[in-house]
Amino acid sequence: MAKKILIVANWKANPATKEEASSLARKMELVAVKLNMVKTVIAPSFPFLQTVKSKIKKIALGAQDGFWTTGPYTGEVPAEQLKSLGVKYVIVGHSERKIYFQETDEMINKKISALLKNKIKVVLCVGERERIDANIPEIVGEQLRNALRGIRGTELKNLIVAYEPVWAISSNANSRPDTPENSHQASIYIRKIIAGLYGEKASRNTPIIYGGSINASNIRSFMREAKMDGALVGKAGLDPRGFAELLKAASERL
Ligand code: PGA
Repeated sequence: MAKKILIVANWKANPATKEEASSLARKMELVAVKLNMVKTVIAPSFPFLQTVKSKIKKIALGAQDGFWTTGPYTGEVPAEQLKSLGVKYVIVGHSERKIYFQETDEMINKKISALLKNKIKVVLCVGERERIDANIPEIVGEQLRNALRGIRGTELKNLIVAYEPVWAISSNANSRPDTPENSHQASIYIRKIIAGLYGEKASRNTPIIYGGSINASNIRSFMREAKMDGALVGKAGLDPRGFAELLKAASERL
């Protein structure tokens, strides 16, 4: 059977109210429920996790970050709390966390380690800040190696790598989506690094998704030509109509 396409909607710090979050989640669930070949995840901000959870069944609950331990860490949300709330996926190392909140590779590594120990799926974001040339910069390899330091091969089944070039994220100045060719090259590069760390089989089995200005019109080319296992979606995940089109397009990838 063909593998399901994974679509992760990262709502970031949107929407403003619980009512809007609830309505958005309800509309998305109505579409997702009809599409068997797509696994949809919604990652709202922490205060809306419970609201979104109450509106979804077919869609999985995601979070946009997670902390590595319980204890005296004001404002943080540890993996254990996310797990107890039914969160199945957590985005880690998003470029906005690195740029605006000084998140380091070491912090990312600790978060991944704690989340995987709690059997939560990790969507690890890697990607270069600027596209220098067609070659994927060594920086992506370094991010990956640092993020996975000390992670055992047996824990890898819950890892998803999101290749998300920062310059392609729709909210950044002069953004444009990557080309399917380039992102395909990036995924080959990422697989090589994982193979070097954990072997060919683990590398083949690790889903690699693409993020950066994904919408209903371009998603198919990333699934077909770039052979991505799915997408990490920002802006387009806040428009229920557009997102419905995007999910449908993803499900018709073959
Ligand atoms: P975008 O955001 O789809 O709006 O480019 C993607 C992301 O930042 O995860």
